[in-house]
Amino acid sequence: MKVLVTGVAGFIGSTLAERLVSDGHQVVGIDSFSDYYDRRIKESNLARLTDVNGFTLLEGDLNTADLRTVLDRVEVVYHHAGQPGVRKSWGADFTDYTDANISATQRLLEAVRNSAPSLTRFVYASSSSVYGNAERYPTSESDRPQPRSPYGVTKLAGEHLVNLYAANFGIPAISLRYFTVYGPRQRPDMAFNRFIEWARHDRPLPVYGDGTQIREFTYVDDIVEANVRACDADVEPGTVVNLSGGTATSVNDVLDLLEKIHGEPLRVHRGEPALGDVFRTGGCTERAKTLLGWEPRMGIEEGLAREYDWLAARDG
Ligand code: NAD
Ligand code: UGA
Repeated sequence: MKVLVTGVAGFIGSTLAERLVSDGHQVVGIDSFSDYYDRRIKESNLARLTDVNGFTLLEGDLNTADLRTVLDRVEVVYHHAGQPGVRKSWGADFTDYTDANISATQRLLEAVRNSAPSLTRFVYASSSSVYGNAERYPTSESDRPQPRSPYGVTKLAGEHLVNLYAANFGIPAISLRYFTVYGPRQRPDMAFNRFIEWARHDRPLPVYGDGTQIREFTYVDDIVEANVRACDADVEPGTVVNLSGGTATSVNDVLDLLEKIHGEPLRVHRGEPALGDVFRTGGCTERAKTLLGWEPRMGIEEGLAREYDWLAARDG
């Protein structure tokens, strides 16, 4: 099968592309190598794909690339390109979010509508940030989205666009709402990566607020598995599915686990809470189980240790 992965040089996109190639698919990946973080990190994410039969890298921006050519004979699109990060999305940076998360998604959907006659699935990488401080926990897909960050607003707008194109043009779309993803290749702005790096360099770990905020951290291989299953799932176009890690874990719990893995006491600096951060995320995964046969498999202790080992091996 010929598959397009957008955002292929990123944390999740590169991990997904490796899995798809090893499953025998022909994968085309596109990425603009945005400057949100160091290009060399993105190049290293692609190291195992370079020169591999069945993988083609296109450097390009979804807002300007010739998408008709990019989509030639593509049967499945995994749309992971985007501007992530909750806390940077205020102020002048907001246009990075509207460009990458809204305009690029709309342009891709238009191109899919016109130039991808063989398409059987369009998967959109949505986000738990659409819920904001949710109505209840575990949050279900039908609960009212009420984002608390400009980033969340743009991810929800992208999801609405996907559903709009599904409803009007029958694009076989599914949106997967990821809950704080972690593991090897995690972005350098995210909590676990920062905490591990700071610990390894014996610097006080930068905690926002008192550390009681809660996430259901989700391991990257579990996210990839759900993407693979979403390809064949029998779902209505425009279906939305939570992918949540299954265990409510506070930032303070993470610090305790990391101290054990690191093997030495951690120094912690507790600063102000970050604007746009929600207090809690946690998703009901019944729908993922029913529609995709998916459940989170990786526990946080082992998953965090794997991310620690990856960073230690990378940085020496
Ligand atoms: P990432 O920044 O590592 O990867 C995104 C990639 O998209 C980057 O390599 C970037 O260069 C590329 N990109 C950005 N704009 C582009 C454009 N206009 N054209 C082509 N490429 C472009 O981020 P990630 O953590 O791997 O996240 C991937 C997707 O999953 C994003 O859409 C993000 O919103 C979503 N998501 C991530 C998480 C998480 O916890 N990491 C959670 C929920 C949703
Ligand atoms: C993550 C991703 O960064 C978003 O792109 C994604 O869309 C979102 O998950 C999601 O689930 O939708 P976030 O939950 O903020 O956002 O992920 P982390 O950066 O790993 O932060 C987790 C927690 O650690 C947050 O409560 C944050 O306040 C805290 N944190 C983060 C710190 O205390 N210190 C830091 O240096 C970084």
